[in-house]
Amino acid sequence: MPRLIDAPGSLRLAVACFACLVLGFVLLAQANLWQQVGAGGLPGPRAVLLKYHGDPDKTLLHDVLDPARPFDDRRNMSQYLGGIDANDPVTAERRTQVLTWVEAGAPESGWEGLAPIFTAVEACGACHAPGGEKADLPLTTHAEVLPTTRYGAPTPLGPLLISAHNHLFGFAVLALLLSVGLCFTRVEGLLRGLLILGASGGAALDIAGWFLTRQWGSPFHLLVVTGGGLFGLTTTVMGLAILRDALAGGIGTETDAEA
Ligand code: HEC
Repeated sequence: MPRLIDAPGSLRLAVACFACLVLGFVLLAQANLWQQVGAGGLPGPRAVLLKYHGDPDKTLLHDVLDPARPFDDRRNMSQYLGGIDANDPVTAERRTQVLTWVEAGAPESGWEGLAPIFTAVEACGACHAPGGEKADLPLTTHAEVLPTTRYGAPTPLGPLLISAHNHLFGFAVLALLLSVGLCFTRVEGLLRGLLILGASGGAALDIAGWFLTRQWGSPFHLLVVTGGGLFGLTTTVMGLAILRDALAGGIGTETDAEA
């Protein structure tokens, strides 16, 4: 079996660059979790449970219109209410209008007055309508908005399926590349096997956990936390092990040139 530390400098350089990008990817994944799910902190198991299964005290609209979210947060929909910033009275007034209606049970009789906020192209309609960025969650009729006004409503299935599809592909490619790379490093035996299984197994547990948590709630959210943690940990260790062997002896030595 050839070894990475004996490989030509250019190949080790390529592998080292890849490993650095992978480590950057893992860091960005944490930052993303921090910003989007944890809203300014690493999300604990409870935040994961509420994200997928729903929060008995809140509706999806309360969540995305929560004034505690930074104004430019990706999940902050208050920025599209028509005001220029978080302190704009228009933002506050329209949020109150929407949430008062939601808290009254989102009656159909109140829909007509609120429809312009949801459907106007200057507001939610820019994205939550056919052809928009978020056409998978249209908000153009009372019936379409209703699921976002339910207390304890789980995350919508359509966007979750798309996200799972994209994530699983990325996880699979990353796990394969790192696992193959690891086979050329000095990490051998049981540890090698555990890392390889941990990356693919972690990815599978994580994504399966999304759907199980959405459906049945606790304790499946722990699967998301453990699976995601396992994937993050094993990919970091594999990335570092590959980087270590790629850099051993220095990149400038073209061992194949002498051969
Ligand atoms: C510029 C495009 C855009 C506009 C305008 C917009 N949204 Fe969104 N909306 C998104 C995107 C993108 C997401 C997914 C965010 C994420 O989860 O990362 C989203 C998510 C949501 C969700 C949550 C979906 C989930 O899966 O949790 C709700 C509810 C929502 N928007 C409501 C609204 C409302 C109400 C308005 C108008 C006040 C609005 N949006 C305006 C792009 C937009």
